[in-house]
Amino acid sequence: MSLDLKSLVRTIPDYPKKGILFRDITTLIEHPEGFRDSVERIAAAYRGQGITHVAGIEARGFIFGAGVAIALGTGFVPIRKKGKLPGETIGQNYALEYGVDTIEIHADVVGPGHKVLLVDDLIATGGTAIAAAGLLRRTGALCDNAAFVIDLPDIGGAAKLEAEGVRVTSLMAFEGH
Ligand code: PRP
Ligand code: MG
Repeated sequence: MSLDLKSLVRTIPDYPKKGILFRDITTLIEHPEGFRDSVERIAAAYRGQGITHVAGIEARGFIFGAGVAIALGTGFVPIRKKGKLPGETIGQNYALEYGVDTIEIHADVVGPGHKVLLVDDLIATGGTAIAAAGLLRRTGALCDNAAFVIDLPDIGGAAKLEAEGVRVTSLMAFEGH
C-alpha cells in the first residue's frame, strides 16, 4: 500500500492568526518515507520531459525543490528573498496580504533553451508562484510547469497560475482554508 502523505501533514489552528488553519509540512519531512515519497512522486511526474533546472522558492520550496532536482538529475535554482544573492540579480515584486515582497534570481542562472520546473511546498493565492514563473520567464527560459506538495484550491491560486500558461500538479489538496 502506498503511504498516505496527506495524513503526515499536521494542521495547526489559529496560526499565524486566528481563523487560519496552518498546514504544517515539518511533520511530513521528518518522516523518512514521507519525505522521500513526496520528492519522488513529484520527480516521477516530470521524468523524461526535458527539464533542465528545478527552481525552488525560499524557504520551504528549497526543501522539496532540492530533492526533486537531485531525483531528476538537474541543477537547482534558488529563488531567494531580496538581498540574499551575491551576484547580479533580477527581481520581481509581489503582493502579500499586507504590503509587498521581492524575490530574486541570479541574472545569468537560466535563459533561452532552458526548461525550468518550479517547485514550492504550497500554493494558496498563487502570488508567490506567479511572480516566480514571471521572473524565470523574463530570462527567456521556459517555465510551463509548477509542482506543489499542497494545493488550497478554494483560494484559487492554482487556477490563476494555469491561466498564465503554467501547468500545475500537486500531491494533495485541502478544501476549505
Ligand atoms: C508560503 C508558502 C508558499 C507561499 C504560498 O511561503 O511556503 O511559498 O506562502 O502562498 P501564496 O500562494 O499565497 O503566494 P512564505 O512566504 O509564508 O514563507 P516561507 O516559505 O519562507 O516559510
Ligand atoms: Mg514559501
